Amino acid sequence: LTQANVEVITDGIAEILPGAVRTADGQEREVARATPEGARDYLVPSRTHAGSFFALPQSPQLFKQLLMVAGFDRYYQIAKCFRDEDLRADRQPEFTQIDIETSFLDEKDIMDITETMVRNLFKEVLGVEFGELPHMPLAEAMRRFGSDKPDLRIPLELVDVEDQLKDVEFKVFAGPANDPKCRVTALRVPGGASMPRKQIDDYTKFVGIYGAKGLAYIKVNERAAGVDGLQSPIVKNIPLDNINVILDRVGAVDGDIVFFGADKAKIVSEALGALRIKLGHDLNLLTCEWAPLWVVDFPMFEENDDGSLTAMHHPFTSPKCTPEELEANPAAALSRAYDMVLNGTELGGGSIRIHDKAMQQTVFRVLGISEDEQQEKFGFLLDALKYGAPPHGGLAFGLDRLVMLMTGASSIREVIAFPKTQSAACVMTQAPGVVDAKSLRELHIRLREQAKAE
Ligand code: AMO
Ligand code: AMP
Repeated sequence: LTQANVEVITDGIAEILPGAVRTADGQEREVARATPEGARDYLVPSRTHAGSFFALPQSPQLFKQLLMVAGFDRYYQIAKCFRDEDLRADRQPEFTQIDIETSFLDEKDIMDITETMVRNLFKEVLGVEFGELPHMPLAEAMRRFGSDKPDLRIPLELVDVEDQLKDVEFKVFAGPANDPKCRVTALRVPGGASMPRKQIDDYTKFVGIYGAKGLAYIKVNERAAGVDGLQSPIVKNIPLDNINVILDRVGAVDGDIVFFGADKAKIVSEALGALRIKLGHDLNLLTCEWAPLWVVDFPMFEENDDGSLTAMHHPFTSPKCTPEELEANPAAALSRAYDMVLNGTELGGGSIRIHDKAMQQTVFRVLGISEDEQQEKFGFLLDALKYGAPPHGGLAFGLDRLVMLMTGASSIREVIAFPKTQSAACVMTQAPGVVDAKSLRELHIRLREQAKAE
């Protein structure tokens, strides 16, 4: 994308948010205290405050909220963000957001204006008309596509079949079918019965990457011939009546293959969700070039393996319920967050924020953040909310991701001038590098001796 196209974006925001303050470039980039967006921080040791660290901003989240509290009711900025996380094709440690916040608008208003901006951008730069974006609840996206960012260009869907497998002899299926934390799902691939054994073995290995222990399948050669018309390692273990219900439910016809996943819900969704995308590309099944949508109705929290909770968006996101309801059943609470997804990539995300101190403290409490820690880390926010903050909310788009998708690049590295490698290093400057003893001393840092084996 050229500078001119970036102008289209900034002009676009100026149009939809007339009078918005645009924070001076760099102002929000100043290293600050950590604002949690769910990734690890890049830390910068302070020379003047021995033993203290700045955190490079994961986003300007809290700063833009404080601007709203201060009475600037519209804000946007093209902001640099830094996150120390495992890198993928659409993730870099340093990336750029188109960051927006407004007071007194609700989620519908914010989604409408940012959708207009993206639609105009695609129209002006690529001549592509999106039309109105569909809205899909997260639960539906997970159920039908095994993903919180479904790629709707691919016409394959997951279909749950637990009810048909609860009492079967085949324990690999019966176990998960009777466990509420598990999922048993089927994925029909039209015309897939001609797939050679080697290809099925490769797909079995592929789902193994996501933790799946196998990839059961039924090749539907001739449905009219009953069990003899089915080719499969599992049909002998499941009554034909149940198999027929399953085949009807997925709409299987002669010539199809149906894959199955049975395990913890997270593993099955990730494994078959990824298989769905791989099959879509391998078999050239894509039905269109662009498939944008909004994903909505996210839960407030997700559960960690140890039973503790993490904020699904960030801890400043407003729930759809009262503080009492939230505290009574946090796992069931939905949030006022929304993500824009394009072709299976999360292009942007945001939420209506908490503007009430008691609610903010309830969320911190549910997250296991003690009163002391709340005050220590977020005292400035809690103090600001005390003075009567306006209702506010916003969204941030990933600018690099937007450019990656618009240019058809296969990786975000293609659209960043000096990207880092998969292991977050710069091959050109050899960063990160060692520093001399004097610099370390100035920063009050002593390195632990590296064990020989490391
Ligand atoms: P979130 O964490 O969803 O929300 O980030 C917003 C958007 O930024 C992009 N993005 C990235 N792009 C490249 N590399 C990365 N490592 C990376 N991480 C995120 C994505 C994503 O949709 N403060 C909130 C926004 C808000 O609530 O207003 C935030 O940062 O495109
Ligand atoms: P097995 O009884 O282990 O030989 O497996 C029979 C079939 O079920 C094989 O095709 C396996 O790939 C498949 N399978 C095994 N475990 C799972 C699982 N958890 N989910 C889906 N298929 C599985």
